[in-house]
Amino acid sequence: MKRRTFLLGTGALTGMGLVTASERWHSKQTSVSAVPLTRNFTVSGKQTLRQRAVAKGLLYGAALQSKQVETDAAFAKAIAQECNIIVPESELKWRVVRPSPSVYHFAPADKLLSFANAHNIKMRGHTLVWHEDLPSWVNSSLNSLNAKQILTDHISTVVKHYAGKMHSWDVVNEAIEPKDGRSDGLRNSPWLMMLGPEYIDLAFRVAAASDPKALLTYNDFGMDYDTPFGRKKRMLVLNLLRQLKANGTPIHALGIQAHLHRDNPEFNPESFGTFLQEVADLGLKILITELDVTEKKLPIDAKLRDRTIAAAYEDYLTVALAQPAVIAVLTWGLSDRYTWLSTAEPRPDGSPVRPLPLDAQMNRKLVWNAIARSLDKTTQRSMLP
Ligand code: XIL
Repeated sequence: MKRRTFLLGTGALTGMGLVTASERWHSKQTSVSAVPLTRNFTVSGKQTLRQRAVAKGLLYGAALQSKQVETDAAFAKAIAQECNIIVPESELKWRVVRPSPSVYHFAPADKLLSFANAHNIKMRGHTLVWHEDLPSWVNSSLNSLNAKQILTDHISTVVKHYAGKMHSWDVVNEAIEPKDGRSDGLRNSPWLMMLGPEYIDLAFRVAAASDPKALLTYNDFGMDYDTPFGRKKRMLVLNLLRQLKANGTPIHALGIQAHLHRDNPEFNPESFGTFLQEVADLGLKILITELDVTEKKLPIDAKLRDRTIAAAYEDYLTVALAQPAVIAVLTWGLSDRYTWLSTAEPRPDGSPVRPLPLDAQMNRKLVWNAIARSLDKTTQRSMLP
């Protein structure tokens, strides 16, 4: 297929007055191919993403914050229409849920659970063990004598509070970091430093004992692309999963964050499909847990950008949903009104980022079409708890 290439800042776009100084600087090093204007994103029927997912026995949903549904009726309505699963963006991270050693602050996540129940939506928990978003009391008081007790108390208290009510839990998040240089690939997190590699098995066992019904997930990023980093990350994650399964650890699923980078279009459908099959062969389910697309180097023109971002979604989801072990797709947000990428990965030209299915006015964008098309194309599953 013929691809158009945008050489940012070096001609046509500059002439159209669309390129900022910052883009001109970037143009020295990058060119970004955009999706042909002929690519078809047509969707048939009027069903929402939720209805399309249900028709296939799949889950589609989004990350959100309790204050967003409390204060923004249009957003809450869009979530209820489009999602059959939600995940709190921050409310179950340690910093929020456990501000001091003996205080658990469940109110914000409880509100999201009530919202979910009122709309017959499932909820995931994110996350029980992570090296980030730890409150300062953990960083200052954790030692090798108290770490096991602190971790065990945390997981059992939080998971029991929601026992029977959570679809799934991200038990351990981002435990693999090839750059940390260990042969097992484990990240030098505070938990590894204090407890050794066994902290992962411990976390899953405590979670399983606290809620035997929840699907227990290992969640990580960086497995999407056929780059040296991506290949290494896939290999290390597979090794970890194999080891956990061989050890009898109660792990049920892999969560693939899927923070895609449309600026590096190295997506290789074959190798990604093979990776998913290797995970499935271990008897694990797969969830796409945090899908979105960064777009720092894409053209400022919103229509061109939307096409390119939508193509990244559809190319990725077509492969992901072709794997029967994939049971859920969640985007990290539903509307461009609320996305972490506006602060984490802002565009150099200051134009608002557009990574999600709905725009900031809650209108459907081509990303919405791309997800709808991917759901429509896939085969029927039997819905899991
Ligand atoms: C992000 C949130 O979206 C931000 O609001 C917060 O400041 C930092 O964390 N991987 C994860 C998520 O597992 O928890 C992160 O969420 C995004 C990357």
